[in-house]
Amino acid sequence: MMQPKIEFRTVDFAYQPEVPVLTNVSFQVKAGQTIALVGANGSGKSTIAKLLAGLLEPTSGTILIDHTPLTPTNLAQLRQRIGLVFQNPDDQIVGATVAENTAFGLENRNVPRPEMQTRVHRALEQVGMWDYRDREPGLLSGGQKQRVALASALAITPEILILDEATSMLDPQAKQELNQIIQKLQEQVGLTIILITHDLEMLSLAERVIALDQQQVAFTGTASELFHEKHLLAQMQLELPFSLQVQRELAAQRVPVPDTDLNEKELIEWLTKLL
Ligand SMILES: Nc1ncnc2c1ncn2[C@@H]1O[C@H](COP(=O)(O)OP(=O)(O)O)[C@@H](O)[C@H]1O
Ligand SMILES: [Mg+2]
Repeated sequence: MMQPKIEFRTVDFAYQPEVPVLTNVSFQVKAGQTIALVGANGSGKSTIAKLLAGLLEPTSGTILIDHTPLTPTNLAQLRQRIGLVFQNPDDQIVGATVAENTAFGLENRNVPRPEMQTRVHRALEQVGMWDYRDREPGLLSGGQKQRVALASALAITPEILILDEATSMLDPQAKQELNQIIQKLQEQVGLTIILITHDLEMLSLAERVIALDQQQVAFTGTASELFHEKHLLAQMQLELPFSLQVQRELAAQRVPVPDTDLNEKELIEWLTKLL
């Protein structure tokens, strides 16, 4: 029996009456799993993140965390267990130093000072930003700011980490660095990660993918299963990873490529062997 960490049960949501954003959305996420949530711009991905973090309330339906329905009375408590990183690095800067920024959520939670220092140290080490602890966050690069935002989320020792397009404003190298940090976090026992993205390259990090379309869950399965859903991908305006496009084009030209999906690194390795 699967023990869901998170469950959406027939959730409806609208910001304005008569304009539904989510209709009858149901899905489950296992503890310790990484799932990706994909969909076109405006499909309701961030809305799901905000519902889960208790920043919005469903119009109808139920959201459960560890089998406990979110209600106005337990919301604050359940929210303590969720770390969020958003898209724009500049929206997440508070405090005069990186360390202060990272401690911010702990001050709000009244964590005692020695415990706070331990957690800030550990979180900044996890994202490779400890050496920057006394720097002014506003002067960091976008990638460094996002790593500090991630450290701030990790400092609250979340059970659920939501990354909402966290890498979409970053350059390829910064994106790569953040992905490597996410991969390390996946080894952390019990940490459930929700990767919200419209970058299908990111799906290699996810065990399972949920796709939103027309206000509903249009697909659940693995990334390679999704990569065969041509029609749905087109409808969601999502592009296949470039390496996969190349691989499929080669296959179409009768080049004997492997029949498993290759990521960029694997494709390069395979091509190099041919030379
Ligand atoms: N605060 C808001 N008030 C009214 N409509 C909103 C608000 N936030 C988002 N929306 C609308 O809700 C829909 C889903 O938005 P969002 O969850 O941000 O999508 P995504 O994150 O997938 O791009 C969009 O049509 C968007 O315009
Ligand atoms: Mg969004």
